[in-house]
Amino acid sequence: MEKIVVKKSQPLSGRVRTSGAKNAALPILAATLLGTEDIVLEDVPGLRDVDIMIEVLESLGSVVERLGKNRLKINSKGLNGYTTSYDLMGKMRASFLVMGPLLARMGKTVNSLPGGCNIGARPIDLHLKGFEALGAVIEDNVGDITASCDKLKGTTIYLDFPSVGATENIIMAAVLADGETVLENAAQEPEIVDLANFLRKMGAKVVGAGTSTIRIRGVERLGGCTHQIIPDRIEAGTFMVAAAITGGDVTIDNVIVSHIKPVIAKLEEAGCDVTEGDDSVRVTGRGVKNLKIKTLPYPGFPTDMQAQFMALTTVLNGKSSVKETVFENRFMHADELMKMGAEITIEDREATVIGPAKLRGAKVKATDLRAGAALILAGLVAEGKTEIYDIYHIDRGYEDIEAKFRSLGAHIERVDED
Ligand code: EPZ
Repeated sequence: MEKIVVKKSQPLSGRVRTSGAKNAALPILAATLLGTEDIVLEDVPGLRDVDIMIEVLESLGSVVERLGKNRLKINSKGLNGYTTSYDLMGKMRASFLVMGPLLARMGKTVNSLPGGCNIGARPIDLHLKGFEALGAVIEDNVGDITASCDKLKGTTIYLDFPSVGATENIIMAAVLADGETVLENAAQEPEIVDLANFLRKMGAKVVGAGTSTIRIRGVERLGGCTHQIIPDRIEAGTFMVAAAITGGDVTIDNVIVSHIKPVIAKLEEAGCDVTEGDDSVRVTGRGVKNLKIKTLPYPGFPTDMQAQFMALTTVLNGKSSVKETVFENRFMHADELMKMGAEITIEDREATVIGPAKLRGAKVKATDLRAGAALILAGLVAEGKTEIYDIYHIDRGYEDIEAKFRSLGAHIERVDED
């Protein structure tokens, strides 16, 4: 097993380019199951989760060709299955995103229930409610979920919570259904807009993505297309916080500025200077002023930036608060930060952080991919050496993370565990 070792570093400076968004690439890869002609995807991030999703597609009969580090060619004309294997589902819960496309294309899909993970139970009731509303029969056979329906029928569906995955799965099920589907209280994340744009290029009729009401008019079949995955707004946010926590001067290239507005606003509130370019953002100066963070569905402050900002608040002046409203257990990184000397108390779903703490290096573990990123950020300013274990979490969501941090002057390396 490997670990990442981070040592106290100078203020980071320089330029770094974000990769394609993991949370756009995964639903779009699942949506390729709907296509009957060649699809070329560009800016696909080189991540463990992407590799697993490719394995899932191939297990169902898709032909996947790697055209280069971040380019894929996929053809799903000859799909020959609708069952996702237990071990692949166990490796990555986002494999569950193949249910909608398989139900639409094959009339049936069988998946083992995706596991929860460290940040919460991660139920799928809203996904299944959507499939049922479209006419699917759902059977739960001791952990194996089967959904079947010869021809889905468009209808109006109201999501109790704007779930990202449920919104994506229902859109992908509805694109081949009879008639129109109206999805209300839908999630509005940019990754859903990217999925809708991809589906439209394939011939689907989807309007309203990015708002809380999405309309899908079913069509007979979907073809192929070429599509570039949008930049990863969470990776961009992570490097923005790296500049703020070290008091550096970092420019992040390949960003869609409108996607990172909540992060820009919070860093400016902390006292950083943020300069917006056409497809870049520059963060200079140390964050000093304490913050009040509350995670919300998009366009609110992203839960996937909560851990990184908690790391920042440990070195801000005064009392900060971090409220997590999206997941029920996304504070596992607080214990690890406290091992480094952070002063954090947690009450229900609100963390109170007293800064500035004199962080010191320690042996810590990544409890989810964003928590792992947060520990790298804390390690940049902690005295001495920080050793981060369970870094497979980090590799799920960050491409070439040490190389990118090193290019900004960070003392960071990946070594074999002793
Ligand atoms: C997506 O997960 C992302 N993953 C997550 O990113 C992200 O944190 C999350 O959206 C919220 O933005 C991918 O896109 C692959 P949800 P997803 O369904 O779809 C509850 C990362 O760090 N819920 O919006 O699973 C659920 O329990 C990962 O890159 C139900 O109750 O998120 C949670 O509390 C982590 N029933 C809340 O909704 C359901 O049927 C948000 O979940 C579905 C969800």
